[in-house]
Amino acid sequence: MSRLRRSLGARLLIAQLLVVVVGSLTLLLVAATVGPWLFDQHLEGRLGGVPANVDAHIHAAFEDALGTALIGAIAAASATAVVISVILTRRIVAPVRRLADGATQIASGRYGIQIPVVGEDELASLARAFNGMATALAATEQTRTRLIADVAHELRTPLSTLDGYLEGLADGVIAPNPGTWTTLRDQTRRLSRLAEDLALVSRAEEGRLQVRPVATDAVRLIHAALQAARPAATSKGISLSATSRPERITVTADPERLQQVLGNLLDNAIQHTPAGGRIEVMASQTPDSVRVEVIDSGEGIPTAELERIFTRFHRVDPARTAVSRGSGIGLTVARALVTEHGGDITAASAGPGHGSRFTVTLPRCSDHT
Ligand SMILES: Nc1ncnc2c1ncn2[C@@H]1O[C@H](COP(=O)(O)OP(=O)(O)O)[C@@H](O)[C@H]1O
Ligand SMILES: [Mg+2]
Repeated sequence: MSRLRRSLGARLLIAQLLVVVVGSLTLLLVAATVGPWLFDQHLEGRLGGVPANVDAHIHAAFEDALGTALIGAIAAASATAVVISVILTRRIVAPVRRLADGATQIASGRYGIQIPVVGEDELASLARAFNGMATALAATEQTRTRLIADVAHELRTPLSTLDGYLEGLADGVIAPNPGTWTTLRDQTRRLSRLAEDLALVSRAEEGRLQVRPVATDAVRLIHAALQAARPAATSKGISLSATSRPERITVTADPERLQQVLGNLLDNAIQHTPAGGRIEVMASQTPDSVRVEVIDSGEGIPTAELERIFTRFHRVDPARTAVSRGSGIGLTVARALVTEHGGDITAASAGPGHGSRFTVTLPRCSDHT
């Protein structure tokens, strides 16, 4: 009984049979009460009375015909109910079962599954939506797995440097001099920067990045970013300059976040420009956007890498940058921040050895200009 109650097909059949039974009972009741009376009325009206023996024959024939018709009707209705139940069950229960099986598979971690979509009805739309959800889950899972692998990889380098230095210090092989402390501090800074950047990227990916755009003086912001980058540039013998056309540019942006973007771009430019090189920041505006370009005369970027460098942990030459403090996440952070402002960031380069140009475009809100 409980199995019957649990089966949609059985319940459907019971409901149909119930309709047939109620219909049949009503039919029988009407046939037994109103039917003979109507028949008598009709007979009386047409023939004005018949002899008793003929009347008995006519009544017997009427009851026979009525009985046969009723049995035939009930049998046909019951058979139709069974057939309809079977068809509906096939149409509804089978897709529902497939959905339930799919959901069970997803719950057990098999996100890649797809269930067959049959027809064009609501159940087919449900199956399509289910497949879309499974695909999205599979992509999220893949990103998560890759992120864990990437993070583990990024942690390994600074941790093994720290470990090696600490062991050397303990054994007395490495002298505890200022150079050693600087190396150790560099590695711990790299780790904390990685943690900060990862937190920022994951917040951006979850759409929880909070930017508070206000009317901001873009030129002042650029000068502040240049100021922060100057010591590193000077020590490498790189010249830094800024131009702005027009002289005053107002942009609707979160000043702290925008400065972080510029900081990342300048950091990269300094890192990838040899001594004696130049870095220039150019600000300009169109009626509906503000553009900030960071142009360097450095090593440049191969065309095939121009888009990939914005991907998490991607570095053009991992071997060369492994010794530097970069983790390959700076541009991912920059893009996440700019996108959150409704703008975009792109890279251009005439190729290796010909410098790079990073362009940040932000919408210009007319309310604030
Ligand atoms: N100005 C630039 N010139 C040449 N290559 C660059 C420049 N900026 C970024 N890149 C390339 O893009 C990669 C990713 O940059 P980023 O995301 O900031 O990571 P990181 O600086 O930690 O390596 C860098 O490793 C480098 O190969
Ligand atoms: Mg960087």
